[in-house]
Order: sequence, then C-alpha cells, then structure tokens
Amino acid sequence: METMTVATARWLVSDDGAAAVAAAVRSLDAGEDELTTTAAMRRQVAVAEHGAAAVTAAVARRRARDRWPDAERLLFTRHGLEEASDPDVAAWRARRLVHGPGVGPGREAAEDPYPPPEVWDLGAGLGGDTVAIARAGARVTAVEHDPARCVLLAHNLAVSGVDARVVRDDAGSVVVPAHARVHVDPARRREGRRVRDLDEHRPPVGSMLRVHGHAAGLAITLAPGVDADDPVFGEDVEVEYVQLGGDLVEAIAWRGDLRAPRVTASATLLPAGLRRARTGPRGPRLAVGDPGSHLVEVAVAAVRARLHDDIGAGIGARRLSVRRALLTTDRPPPASPWYRARRIEAVLPPRPPRVRRWLADADPAPVELVLHGFDADVTAWWRALGRPPRGPSGWRIELVRRDDDAIAVITRADDGSGAPEADPS
Ligand SMILES: C[S@@+](CC[C@H](N)C(=O)[O-])C[C@H]1O[C@@H](n2cnc3c(N)ncnc32)[C@H](O)[C@@H]1O
Repeated sequence: METMTVATARWLVSDDGAAAVAAAVRSLDAGEDELTTTAAMRRQVAVAEHGAAAVTAAVARRRARDRWPDAERLLFTRHGLEEASDPDVAAWRARRLVHGPGVGPGREAAEDPYPPPEVWDLGAGLGGDTVAIARAGARVTAVEHDPARCVLLAHNLAVSGVDARVVRDDAGSVVVPAHARVHVDPARRREGRRVRDLDEHRPPVGSMLRVHGHAAGLAITLAPGVDADDPVFGEDVEVEYVQLGGDLVEAIAWRGDLRAPRVTASATLLPAGLRRARTGPRGPRLAVGDPGSHLVEVAVAAVRARLHDDIGAGIGARRLSVRRALLTTDRPPPASPWYRARRIEAVLPPRPPRVRRWLADADPAPVELVLHGFDADVTAWWRALGRPPRGPSGWRIELVRRDDDAIAVITRADDGSGAPEADPS
C-alpha cells in the first residue's frame, strides 16, 4: 500500500502542486520518460517527496484519460486510480443507490428525487463513487480513513462540482443515521492480487453487514469471485454480479430497501443494463449429456449468480458435466445476450495427434485453443499441433474436462441461424 503524507497531499492540491502536476503531464505527453520527468521535477520542486507525488499523479492522470472525462482536473495516486470504480459502472450503481431497485430498462427513474436521499459512501477513496452518487441526485457524506486521501478526495469533489461532505473516520465505527443509505466500496486488492475472501476485503464485509445493517439500505461492492450463497449474507441480501462487455467486474451485496424483493442473486449485463434474478436457492440442475449441435457458454455474471441451469432450461440445453457451466443443445438456440452459441464441428479425444489430423483434413482458418477446466500446457499443444498459436478467430479447439473424462470439441462461430457471435477480440 502506498503511503502519502498529509503535507504532500496538501501541497498537491495547492496552486504550486497543480502547476507541477500539469508540467509533469506536459513532459510525459511530449514523450519524455518517467525518469527524465522526475529528474526535471527535482530541479523545479524543492521537496523531493512533492516532486515524486507530482510525477505519480501525472502518470495516473494520463492513464485515467480514456475512462474519466474530468481526468485533467483530478488528482490520483497510482493505487487510488487502480481502486477507483469504473465511471460507467459507478454511474449505473449510483442510480440504484439513489432510486432503489425498481429502476432499469423500461423503468425510468424520476429525474430529481425529492427529498434527495442521503447516502453515506464509506471507504470513499479518491471519490469515483462519491461523484457518481452525488450526480445521481443524493446528498452524500464521504467517509475515508486515510488522511492524505481525504485531502485529495475533497479536491476531486470540488473540481467535479460536487457538494459532498468529507469525513475522516473509520467505516467500522462511524455512526450513520438510520434513515440514510450506506454504500461501502472496500479495498479488494492485497499485494497486487485480487482478494476473494469476504474477510480480506478492507473494511471486511461481515463487519459492514453487522455495523450498518440497521441503515435504510446497504450496498457493499465486492470482489466478483465471492460466493452468493456464503452464509455471511444471510437470508436478506441480494448478491448481484455485474458484467461489463465480456468482463465480470464486480459483485454487489444489496440489503434493506436497496434489495429487490425476495431476490437472493442476480446478474446484470452492462452497458445494456439487462438483468436476471433468482429468488431463493438455485433451481434444479440440468441433466448431463453428450455434445449436440451447439456449445453454449452462458454469460459469466449469470453463471456466478447460478442462473445458467435456468437459462439452459429455456433453450432445451443439457450440461456437458455436473461441475461445468458449459451447455449443449441439439439445435441453434435463439439469439440472446445471455449466452454465446457455437456450432460443434467435431468431437475428438483430447490428444494433440488426433486433433492435428483433423485440422490437417479440415484445414480451417486460424484457430484458438480454449480450456474448460482442462489442465494443459498450451505451448506444448501448439507445438504438437504444428501450428503457431493463433486466435481469436471463428474456429476453436475447446478442451473440456467432463466428470469422468475429457474431450476436444471443435467449434465454429455460428453464422446467423443461432446466437450472434461478436468478435471475442
Ligand atoms: C476500493 S477503495 C474506494 C474507491 C472509491 N470507491 C472510488 O471509486 O474512488 C477503498 C477505500 O477504502 C478505504 N478504507 C479501507 N478500510 C477503511 C476503513 N476501515 N474505514 C474507512 N475507509 C477505509 C481505503 O483507504 C480506500 O481508499
């Protein structure tokens, strides 16, 4: 974890600091590298720590440009930027925090809720969520325990034109009024790796549920790998998995008036804002069977929410194994954003010579290798196939671990009759 002193943070938000960051950005934009820019900063800025912080802020600002429209005015640290919510995801999440769970496609929110709901944003970091929640129409109190971050946070809110209160306090002990809604965005990285365990979130998820369970509504942003059926969530929490394009970006625990009635798990596809939900425990699992005409991969958010059997039942699918969320159908399923279907061209033993022979006969365009629970040395496979590693393309060799064996399934993007196949690249 990086540390910045309050004095350095105060200098960064001063006119001198702003000028130094702008100069460092100009230098980097002109093609100078970080070392040269830092050396130049040392000559311009009396305190070495200030100069280093200005260069770090400049590097982070340049990285933030393509995601943050206000980047040129904002101050980031390297970790602060890595931890900040994606602005589109934050804006979408903020709508529910402000308008409640009934808002979605075809169910528009009132423009300006009156009176504006009060939201406490705990672990506010550098303000990505605070800005989004305030812009969605709430009165926001931003709580952050790191004193230097509080200084940068106040700056970022001010330059974003957001009128929110900043409080330096601990999310575990701050007293939130019972009529307010609470949003917690815990740190979810430790030593560069993503955590999964709810206790490893900072602040920890269990303590947030205990301490702020009395709030009118509670939303805790979680690592996407968490288990919706973890007992810590109890009966009165909805865990929503959020997918942006092809990536699973986060999960959110919703409670109180922010939870959709009776929902225990849900999946949302952004940017479209499509949503599916289940109430109560997962439904029955699909039967397991042999590959049919199509291989069906359900959207990862729906798989995490354990909605894949339900989605598969709707298209007459079966599973390829008890443990994998990989489905197959006997005819092209209708187009849907909830899955991708690929035509099965061949099912082979998962041995390179056998697959190589098939490839030599069929001579398809470049293929990619995709592993489904199959432990393979991919480089050795390509070597044995006598081809350079290629992909993605219309063709795939999908190595699938089943319950008692494994198979190589050669698939191809469907060309119109089934689900649409976006270029996975
Ligand atoms: C993932 S970051 C928040 C990012 C923020 N939502 C944004 O979009 O910019 C988590 C923040 O929680 C803060 N934090 C961790 N534990 C805390 C605690 N017990 N009390 C208050 N803040 C805490 C960290 O300092 C960090 O700034």
